[in-house]
Amino acid sequence: MASDIQTDISGADAPAPSAPLGDVILRTEGLTKHYGGVHALVDCNFEIRKGEHVAIMGDNGAGKSTFVRQITAVEKRTAGKVWFNGQYVDFDGPLAAREAGIETVFQTLALADHLDVPDNLFLGREIRKFNLGPFSILDYKAMREATKRGLERTGVKIPNIRNTIQNMSGGQRQCVAIARTATFHSKLTIMDEPTAALGVQETAQVENIIRTLKEQGEPLILISHNMRQVMDLCDRIVVWRRGRICANLRKEDTDGEDVVAYITGAKTQPEYDTAA
Ligand SMILES: Nc1ncnc2c1ncn2[C@@H]1O[C@H](COP(=O)(O)OP(=O)(O)OP(=O)(O)O)[C@@H](O)[C@H]1O
Ligand SMILES: [Mg+2]
Repeated sequence: MASDIQTDISGADAPAPSAPLGDVILRTEGLTKHYGGVHALVDCNFEIRKGEHVAIMGDNGAGKSTFVRQITAVEKRTAGKVWFNGQYVDFDGPLAAREAGIETVFQTLALADHLDVPDNLFLGREIRKFNLGPFSILDYKAMREATKRGLERTGVKIPNIRNTIQNMSGGQRQCVAIARTATFHSKLTIMDEPTAALGVQETAQVENIIRTLKEQGEPLILISHNMRQVMDLCDRIVVWRRGRICANLRKEDTDGEDVVAYITGAKTQPEYDTAA
């Protein structure tokens, strides 16, 4: 199902990666995004393997969310190549990325304000009782029950899931978006600062969801400014600075102080040192 929508370059015309993909679930080569004269993302070579949890860290404006918007096709990349799940991809838009198996919690949440919680969760993949071409009947009860189960996993209390999203708090909205990722199994989950707006208890619940993804072998890209969280939850940390990757660190080879040195520019790994 996914293969017929996810790429507009297929078969023999698809570019080959510079090295075999093996168990890589996502790889970018030379990924670049310019906004006019702003070089928000420059020549990024990134990869994540099946089952891995990788943190992306970097100062405000470093290019982290821009990276996410290019791999999920919210925007058209300026240059560079992307492979996902063994195939070269150039998605038409975020829905195509989602249908191919990339589930994303965006920093600026992509929720539909005028819809209630179940409608937001199931937007674009409604559960149907019957499906006869244009005539189909949606199974609202099944969707409401699945929504409640998803929300229970985030621990957030939402008084009435039939209310529209627009009057909810930032934390409640964030939990709805995270419940969406917890409800549908994906090939890759991306969370851009998922707990930034959450209280202590909700943060702990979301961290548990992330641990469950790890136990289930589901790969995750986690963007976070929270060093404790990153050290607790991730196998590897990739640091961005001024649009470029400046370090790729295995957790066991680094510590908080070391990561901060890369974030601030006090250190750059030799292989990423463009001035050298
Ligand atoms: N639509 C846009 N038009 C112009 N410049 C943009 C646009 N989107 C992002 N930028 C610029 O690109 C750079 C990277 O922004 P980005 O949002 O990716 O940073 P970030 O690392 O996610 O930061 P934060 O930690 O604050 O979320 C910034 O300088 C930002 O101002
Ligand atoms: Mg961001």
